[in-house]
Amino acid sequence: MQSVQFPQGHVLFRNLNKAYPLCTHGKGVYLFDQSGKKYFDASGGALVTNLGHGNSELLEVFIQQLSKVTYVNGTQFTTPVMEACAEKLSNFAKPLGLNKIALLSSGSEAVEAAIKFARQLWADRGMGSKHKLIARTPGYHGNTLYALSASGRPHYKKVYGPLISPVLTVSTPYGYRAPFVDAATPLDRLKQYDEKGADFYANELQSLIDQEGANTISAFIFETVSGSSTGAWTPPKGYFQRVQEICTKNNILMIADEVMCGAGRTDRFFASEHYDLKPDLVVLGKGLNAGIVPVSAVIVKEEHLETFKRVSGGFMHAQTYMQAPSLAAAALAVLSYFEKHQVLIHAQPIGHYFQEQLQKVISPLETVGSVTGIGHMAGVEFVADKPSRRPFPIAQKFSLKFVQHAQDLGLILWPNYGQADGINGDLVMLGPSLLMTRTEVDDCISLLKSAIETFKL
Ligand SMILES: Cc1ncc(COP(=O)(O)O)c(C=O)c1O
Repeated sequence: MQSVQFPQGHVLFRNLNKAYPLCTHGKGVYLFDQSGKKYFDASGGALVTNLGHGNSELLEVFIQQLSKVTYVNGTQFTTPVMEACAEKLSNFAKPLGLNKIALLSSGSEAVEAAIKFARQLWADRGMGSKHKLIARTPGYHGNTLYALSASGRPHYKKVYGPLISPVLTVSTPYGYRAPFVDAATPLDRLKQYDEKGADFYANELQSLIDQEGANTISAFIFETVSGSSTGAWTPPKGYFQRVQEICTKNNILMIADEVMCGAGRTDRFFASEHYDLKPDLVVLGKGLNAGIVPVSAVIVKEEHLETFKRVSGGFMHAQTYMQAPSLAAAALAVLSYFEKHQVLIHAQPIGHYFQEQLQKVISPLETVGSVTGIGHMAGVEFVADKPSRRPFPIAQKFSLKFVQHAQDLGLILWPNYGQADGINGDLVMLGPSLLMTRTEVDDCISLLKSAIETFKL
């Protein structure tokens, strides 16, 4: 059997109308299926495998640690592997001034834990009225119910609406569709975004805080570099400086969700480092585990834990796998690999070349409205009409059909839709391995170009 489609087998497939090829193995940027077909994994699945596939050195280090002790509960023991992992990760987090680590499994769980951490801090500080969360739209923070509530994606809320909790929202910096950008050429539009963006978005945040009352707001959560909800749009110049000033002045904690953009994805370990941002909490996932096993992290400031120690005695959130040695073994293997192989030093010039080639080769194509990104993270947004930026009607399912077409041609991409107006809009994300070579960049770009040129709706 070379592919499986519902109702065959016993796997609860997400798409019940799709034939899933059987992936048998992977090596570097490539995946191989049962028929021997080779795929260039340009998105690392969902921007996860940042150290490539079949990385045997990484797996050996993981298994060596795992074989010592697989599981103890974090309420009963700590372990050498958890201690070593936390120490290494806190070294990586030094530029952000954060140094205490909780490991969890999925990104969604870590987001929930971070939001609860912020809330507990206000309760422990005797400021119990501070409970509301500000998130940005469009945005994505996960699929568990509160993380989904914080995700500014109206189409996700269609079915789950009755289960969703109230969350305040402001606009996400999204240069391609920013309302204050009206110049004709892409270069002038970028200039406008950078000149006017920080004021526009910061004023919106300040107005919302004034309207709600700072004494009711606990935290502001954002993706430092926005992921698949905008197609990797970076913030305009000075944005985070303004946002940081506003949050500090109003006693609002900043939660940087770096589940997608962290762990080297932007060619710095934390995306926050590009903007000299000092968030109160950072959330990691995906690249932190490089796909070995699900591991996420919440990284916080020691001073906040001193408050917990005095008042509640500790962080009240707990889950079965929190601080489990199996999670720590995976994250420690990844962090050690980053250090030993100076992954970010290798990645920076390649990431630069990757972005340059995307602009040069992909931007001019007829259906491509916008190409953006930073390091090894990029988004390509498709439009029906370039001058007016008119999206394809959602009923045409452009992005979903396009990624299937690309997969048929041997190129794996990550689709997203709805960003233009909450319903319409189509883009794909690229997030290849940080170990990708220059020649592989050329292969990736040429596969993407031919997938776009040969695609028919
Ligand atoms: C920015 C961001 N936060 C949170 C999540 C949720 O992570 P997970 O799917 O591991 O729960 C994602 C997943 O795509 C993400 O991109």
